Amino acid sequence: MKNNLFIALEGIDGSGKSTQVKLLATAMTAAGHNVYSTFEPTDGMIGNVLRNILKGNIKADHRVIAGLFLADRLDHLLNEETGIVKKMQEGYTVITDRYYFSSYAYHGTHMDMDWVIEANKMCAQILKPNLNIFIDVPPEISMQRINAGRESTELFETLESLKNVRAKYMEAFEKLKHAEEIIIIDGNRHANEIARDIQKATEVW
Ligand code: ADP
Ligand code: TYD
Repeated sequence: MKNNLFIALEGIDGSGKSTQVKLLATAMTAAGHNVYSTFEPTDGMIGNVLRNILKGNIKADHRVIAGLFLADRLDHLLNEETGIVKKMQEGYTVITDRYYFSSYAYHGTHMDMDWVIEANKMCAQILKPNLNIFIDVPPEISMQRINAGRESTELFETLESLKNVRAKYMEAFEKLKHAEEIIIIDGNRHANEIARDIQKATEVW
């Protein structure tokens, strides 16, 4: 058995995270890991409220949204049945589609990023990813993918917003470069090439 790892995939909407989570899960399973793949917002109670906010069915202030994402993340970690902490204790390698850097980037576009980082400190204390992988795709390309693949768009899915979010990701990576393991991967390539680079980055463990 391999050491179990906690890996977070990050990127703007439409950057290919869920595609890469699947490819990485397959590769890590073949390499001998027991893999548990997961995502935020979760499909739990708080995650469902968040999805309704993202779709525009419920209106909420951005500070409320930031607070709800934090609550959803704590449940993602601590849920007694499906929580990441439990899965890690059981020996799974956990791959998550988004974790706290998403909050720093998305909510950092509407409020003080340092507040968001401070509010998420408890999550970092509970479980810090062995690796945060940012799939870097130009916002123009990710918007094209979103518009081609779906009929409706969500709260943050405009070109202007995704440009701001990408810039905030970079700001957060710079702020936390001494505290976190971060790699940035060129996501504007064929999915298999991206997957190969992501896989290589995880092989150091
Ligand atoms: P995310 O989870 O970041 O929103 P997805 O993996 O759902 O991204 O990908 C968004 C869209 O782009 C999907 O239609 C997917 O098939 C497509 N896609 C994913 N990776 C690539 C890639 N490397 N090149 C072109 N299209 C891609
Ligand atoms: P997701 O379902 O991953 O969307 P996509 O597949 O299009 O990338 O995430 C939903 C949205 O939630 C996305 O716009 C990013 C946003 N989000 C936050 O604003 N804060 C957070 O902490 C997280 C985890 C996501």
